[in-house]
Amino acid sequence: MSEFLINGGKSLYGEVEIHGAKNTVLPLFAAAIISAEKVEITNVPLLTDVKNMIKIIQKLGAKAEMVGDKVTIDASRLYSCEIPNELAKELRSSVFLLGSVLSRKKCAKVAYPGGCDIGLRPIDIHIKGLRDLNVKIEESCGYIYCDATDMQSGDVILDYPSVGATENLMLAAVLTEGTTVLHNAACEPEIVDLQNFLNKMGAKISGAGTSTVRITGVESLKGTTYRAMPDRIVAGTYAIAAAITGGEIILKGAKHGDMRALLSKLAKTSCIITQNSDNIHIKANGRPTAVQRITTQPHPGFPTDLQAPMMALQTVSDGICVFTENIFENRFRHVTELTKMGADIIINGRTAVIKGVERLHGAEVYAQDLRGGAALVLAGLNAYGTTVVKDVYHIDRGYENMEIILRSVGADIIRR
Ligand code: EPZ
Repeated sequence: MSEFLINGGKSLYGEVEIHGAKNTVLPLFAAAIISAEKVEITNVPLLTDVKNMIKIIQKLGAKAEMVGDKVTIDASRLYSCEIPNELAKELRSSVFLLGSVLSRKKCAKVAYPGGCDIGLRPIDIHIKGLRDLNVKIEESCGYIYCDATDMQSGDVILDYPSVGATENLMLAAVLTEGTTVLHNAACEPEIVDLQNFLNKMGAKISGAGTSTVRITGVESLKGTTYRAMPDRIVAGTYAIAAAITGGEIILKGAKHGDMRALLSKLAKTSCIITQNSDNIHIKANGRPTAVQRITTQPHPGFPTDLQAPMMALQTVSDGICVFTENIFENRFRHVTELTKMGADIIINGRTAVIKGVERLHGAEVYAQDLRGGAALVLAGLNAYGTTVVKDVYHIDRGYENMEIILRSVGADIIRR
């Protein structure tokens, strides 16, 4: 198991190229297998989750290969509708292959995706939505069996604006005759990217980015080439790296419009933020000021995926921050590790109260999940002395070459 060794205290200066978004390329791969023609997706990051998703669609019978940042998918010979269990457990988000396999094969079998590091991650909203579209679903012995022979278009009201359920239902409805309307849909930018990709393949979808998404079924989808959107969570993480080290970083390729909630909170910490069409410039301005209240919410609210990285910054900010995690029930696992580094944090249910200290000190800490691991790296960049972040395989799921990128802007960090 590799680990990061960080000698903290260096201010970061320079430019970081923001790679494609993990949470867009995964649904795009799922969408690609609905077409029997060749699809090319560029700006794909080299991540563990990406490699696992490629393996899953290969097991379904599609050809898929990654050369550089381009993934080519040819699902003309897609023959299976069973999503492989061992890989589905590795990659929870394979659950939205359900929708695309149902569109293409009219049947699907998938193991119940387990919970993960941050919560139970149920899929009841996915299942209810598919049933609302007349998909016959049976659950037995840990598997979900779906029969979409009689799938119909219709109105689906999501009990919660679930990102994955919105994506799954878009993928299920795209070839279904008539118009399906998703109410209380998720509004995340990745949903917009999925709509744009599907429409480029010949789908008829509108409303993505709002809480009402309309999908009018078409006969089939054609091949296309498409460039995935930049990763707003990775961009946000490196913005925080500038703030927590008192440095100055230009995020190349980052989209300001996707990051408003984070950037407005960072401005409150006294960072100076400027942007042009495709770059964002973050400049620290002395010791950060604590943000009194932060609450994670569905987009366009403060993103849950940046809760841990932003908490790392609050641990060394001047003042007290009350941080509430509204989205996942077990997303404070980085707190114990941050306290090993001298952070002053009290947890009460879904709320953490952080009293900023001048500076953290190095320690041996364990990444418990993807974004919590990233937060520990950020803390190590600030801390006196040496920090060892163990189990960095969690971080490799969502950050491409994190240590190389951080070294390129002056961090003293190695992977060993
Ligand atoms: C997506 O997960 C992202 N993953 C997550 O990113 C992100 O944190 C999350 O959206 C919220 O923005 C991908 O896109 C691959 P949800 P998803 O369905 O779709 C509950 C990362 O770090 N829920 O919007 O699984 C659920 O338990 C990852 O990159 C149900 O109760 O998120 C959670 O509490 C982590 N029933 C809340 O809704 C359901 O059927 C939000 O989940 C579905 C979800």
